[in-house]
Amino acid sequence: VKSLVPAPKPASVKALLESSIPCGYSNSTVLNLNEHDNIASEPEEPIPIIDFSLLTSSDPNRRSEAIHQLSKACQEWGFFMLVNHGVPESLMKAVINGCDEIFNLTVEEKENYITHDIWAPIRYSTGINGVQNASMRRESLRVLMHRPFTFPNKLKAVSDVMREYTQITRALVRELLKGISKSLGLEECYIDKAMDLESGYQHFQANFYPRCPQPELSMGVPSHTDYGLLTALIHNGVVGLEILHHGKWVLVKPLPNAILVNVTDQLEILSNGKCKSVLHRALVNSSVPRMSVAMFYGPSDDKVVGPAPELLDMEGRPPAFVSMEFKKYIDLKRRNPDDAPPFLDQIR
Ligand code: SIN
Ligand code: FE2
Repeated sequence: VKSLVPAPKPASVKALLESSIPCGYSNSTVLNLNEHDNIASEPEEPIPIIDFSLLTSSDPNRRSEAIHQLSKACQEWGFFMLVNHGVPESLMKAVINGCDEIFNLTVEEKENYITHDIWAPIRYSTGINGVQNASMRRESLRVLMHRPFTFPNKLKAVSDVMREYTQITRALVRELLKGISKSLGLEECYIDKAMDLESGYQHFQANFYPRCPQPELSMGVPSHTDYGLLTALIHNGVVGLEILHHGKWVLVKPLPNAILVNVTDQLEILSNGKCKSVLHRALVNSSVPRMSVAMFYGPSDDKVVGPAPELLDMEGRPPAFVSMEFKKYIDLKRRNPDDAPPFLDQIR
């Protein structure tokens, strides 16, 4: 995705975020930042790149080499850049442009979608309306794509683009999960079937990170892991995503048109801790607004997720995590206080 920088617009939450909010953190968040040393370093080894065309190649040797790479990426990094994925560049651009249109709605239009109900079909939140951590400098709009939703009339074109992107990336992620199943020594369709991905959970989330006069004192989104199986992220060409690797924050410098994919909590659980749900965070900067669009994939809400019994049998290891309904996992993790241990660690 080429760098698409949104044009400045009149009074909006964007402007509010940029101007009137003190650019700083509460003490507890400063502590969190310091915990892993707030300095991004160059990784000792390059961030993994996975070539999707090899993963689906008819040549068994190429395919098994790609699965080996995928296995290393999920187990050592919990993160990779996906290239040759077949999602048209024009569609990726249209999604990012759509993201700009979403955030350029008026404050009143966006505020219609502010809700505390995390299961609302559409939910708008910012770091300043109290729905999220007040120190976050981000606006986001989340849509539950696996449920029926109605978008604002003005955004009909965006809604069509979102649906197209939803379908194409859904197929892509299901294919990736086949490769990951194989890499774990499981049958290719294992995760797809066990997690009933046909009726799986899919969230679209557009994020806008405004310029921040003192970026070193602030954060777009603090360090966290995601809930589901995999997350796929695209952006407007402005860097800002950092991942934690071997105890150091590494700034992701995405390859053009790559889709950034991270392993998330349910995949770590299902793989009995082999795949790593990577801690990541998003920085802000003082010169260019950043936009990203995340697609979150998971099992259906009522699926009970635990370590795959077949994997336990194969390896003769005890389960590393307690099994739990996905919906319950989400609710409990959301209620986990900031100063408590990460929720994933609490169910070990
Ligand atoms: C997130 O993890 O919530 C967003 C990451 C990004 O915008 O780069
Ligand atoms: Fe995330």
